[in-house]
Amino acid sequence: MKTNIIFIAALLYVIITMAFSTRSDEGKQLYEHYCARCHGNDGTRGLFGAKNLRQSGLSDSAIIQQISNGKRIMPSFRKRISADQIYAISTYIKSLRKYK
Ligand code: HEC
Repeated sequence: MKTNIIFIAALLYVIITMAFSTRSDEGKQLYEHYCARCHGNDGTRGLFGAKNLRQSGLSDSAIIQQISNGKRIMPSFRKRISADQIYAISTYIKSLRKYK
């Protein structure tokens, strides 16, 4: 009985950590694919006046808005990627910030 509980707990742990790690990897991969050409891998490239993402203090909802709708030169991504993917990218770009 006790070993069963330990086994189930270990299994849950593995599933949960896997779910979280693919999520952050997904954000990174999407970012590098769609955003890095203007913002750079570390968020500081600034091509076409792209804002420095390490210095950005936008709120979570403002980031989601900006990726969904775009702004001036920055294109809108709403039709190209899913809401889940936008969320994954927003989590990733916050991790680039100098001061979190
Ligand atoms: C074609 C170049 C280009 C691409 C591709 C691009 N951006 Fe931008 N981004 C910009 C520009 C230009 C701005 C500044 C817009 C403004 O305020 O005038 C900007 C601003 C932002 C901001 C606002 C920062 C702030 O503090 O105001 C965020 C967040 C952002 N981009 C995230 C992303 C993400 C995430 C992606 C990929 C899904 C992406 N961008 C793709 C050019 C780009």
